[in-house]
Amino acid sequence: MDKTVSIIIPTYNERDNITPLVERIHRSLSSHNYEIVFVDDNSKDGTAELAKTLCSKYTVKVVVRKDKRGLASAVVDGLTHVSGEVVVVMDADLQHPPEALPNMLKALESYDFVVASRYCKGGSPGKWTLPRRLVSLVANLLALPLAPRVKDRMSGFFGFRRVAVDPALLNPLGWKIGLEIMVRSHVSSVTEVPYIFVARAHGSSKLSKRIIWQYLQQLVRLYFDKFRIMNFMVVGGIGYVINISLYSLLTLLPLLKAFEFSQVGKPYYLPPFVVSSLIAITSNYLMNRAWTFKGWVEHQRGFGRYMSMGIGTLLLDLGFLYLLVNYGKLAPVPAAALAILVVFIIRYVIARRWVWSEISTK
Ligand code: GDD
Ligand code: MN
Repeated sequence: MDKTVSIIIPTYNERDNITPLVERIHRSLSSHNYEIVFVDDNSKDGTAELAKTLCSKYTVKVVVRKDKRGLASAVVDGLTHVSGEVVVVMDADLQHPPEALPNMLKALESYDFVVASRYCKGGSPGKWTLPRRLVSLVANLLALPLAPRVKDRMSGFFGFRRVAVDPALLNPLGWKIGLEIMVRSHVSSVTEVPYIFVARAHGSSKLSKRIIWQYLQQLVRLYFDKFRIMNFMVVGGIGYVINISLYSLLTLLPLLKAFEFSQVGKPYYLPPFVVSSLIAITSNYLMNRAWTFKGWVEHQRGFGRYMSMGIGTLLLDLGFLYLLVNYGKLAPVPAAALAILVVFIIRYVIARRWVWSEISTK
């Protein structure tokens, strides 16, 4: 027996679309056990009333919310009303062809999450105006690091296994609930199936400047949550100040000048850099542990890992410093400053993958 499927459809003023939509879903899923859950934000055109009349013929539920709260939150609310093992979210306006559903369900036999995609082979964004195409392109690119495995990160047509998604982790804002789920639920396997985005037959798009603004806010939240990059940058900044101040102090020490290192042609500027860097790395480790990666699991021998990562990248840093001073003819202090910046990103990537890990929700 096939898995049961729940289809969540957020609606706002879609009266003329829902009857053909339900009929086409029914035809596409004739061999499946399915239910449709409309989440209507109190449409003025009688969408909910019409949807309710479909209940006698099809497995349809209608949830009406009295104060309009938006597409993403409609989907999350819908999740509390579904019973299927797999869930699909799609628009009501027939721009998301129900004929793509069987392929999506097939994909969910092997994957946790499926995106119906306009940008994978066989898919197409259809006929769009140039401004709309540009907005979508930029929006899609902005989310690239959040969901690198997916080409259509803006899709409002997607499906997932219900056990893979914990609604409590979601923070619905604006429209991009598919992206929100992919990022916050840590879905482990994602695939795409193609579809062609067709023009709207009835009604009009509700996309507005406000929705775009909410998307930017959502992006900021997702980036901080996924990458913890802000915290890491702050810690890196503090470490940077510690490192450079110590370094300046050490290179100025008259004592040092007395050493042989100070002879012309010898890299006298390197040993103090090692000392200042080791101190900065240790304090960074402590700050990252207490703050940046708070709530994440630290791998065994985390301090050892952090130190070897720090020292490994320090060697890289030193090589770079040496090159900059000897061949780039830079003064030691600005050269050290530049060198630290370059290894910052490398350190961050290693820290969040090798020293700490996000706790899996599964
Ligand atoms: N419940 C509820 N509340 N539904 C809403 C609301 C709301 O505030 N706003 C819009 N909807 C419903 C619409 O009735 C429609 O079913 C669906 O959400 C999408 O709205 P459209 O206005 O048709 O959006 P679009 O065509 O410009 O963009 C859609 O498709 C793109 C391609 O997949 C959205 O889903 C985008 O997120 C998506 O990128
Ligand atoms: Mn639409």
